Amino acid sequence: MMEAPPHVVLRRATRDDGPTLWRLAGECPPLERNTVYAYVLLAERFAETTFVAEDDGRAIGYLLGIRSPTRPDVLFVWQLGVLPSHRGLGLGGRLLAEAVDRNADVVSLETTVARNNAASEALFRGFARTRETGCAVLDGHLPAALLGHAAEDDTERLFHIGPLRRGPA
Ligand SMILES: CC(C)(COP(=O)(O)OP(=O)(O)OC[C@H]1O[C@@H](n2cnc3c(N)ncnc32)[C@H](O)[C@@H]1OP(=O)(O)O)[C@@H](O)C(=O)NCCC(=O)NCCS
Repeated sequence: MMEAPPHVVLRRATRDDGPTLWRLAGECPPLERNTVYAYVLLAERFAETTFVAEDDGRAIGYLLGIRSPTRPDVLFVWQLGVLPSHRGLGLGGRLLAEAVDRNADVVSLETTVARNNAASEALFRGFARTRETGCAVLDGHLPAALLGHAAEDDTERLFHIGPLRRGPA
């Protein structure tokens, strides 16, 4: 895999990034775009686990992670998107590494992946391999019908990755 260009920097998001996250979500199909309000709220309330990737100051990717108060050691990756122009450079992996390594109390990572999202599946399986840890997959976690989709391929599987090993500081 090619290395990401060195001028791509990752940083934590603030609520002011909400409209930017909303724009990126719209440019990263098959992500479902939510309201601007949702991105502002999530970037504000989950600032510790939400990151933006910038290429020369231009936002080109993001990771929106949340933690449940009842399971604070589990980082749930709700949305992760990289603009098509910047895919295949390892940025998805870098965003995952950043979210884990900058939250030292995170022990495992969860996400849901649609059956037909090969790129997302490869990204999360690859991250588990890199961290030399397990990747358990629960099929049928969120049925397509529950999500308002007709196609069975839109059923979301639950991926549970962990226990996590830390990357280099
Ligand atoms: C999923 C996504 C974030 C990956 O970002 P990326 O920066 O291209 O990912 P990386 O370059 O870090 O690649 C990670 C791995 O996935 C693999 N991969 C990337 N695109 C792939 C594809 N279309 N099909 C199969 N594998 C793919 C890479 O080869 C790499 O594997 P490796 O580590 O074994 O070499 C990006 O494709 C995307 O934004 N997709 C649309 C939004 C989405 O589906 N998000 C995920 C659900 S929240």
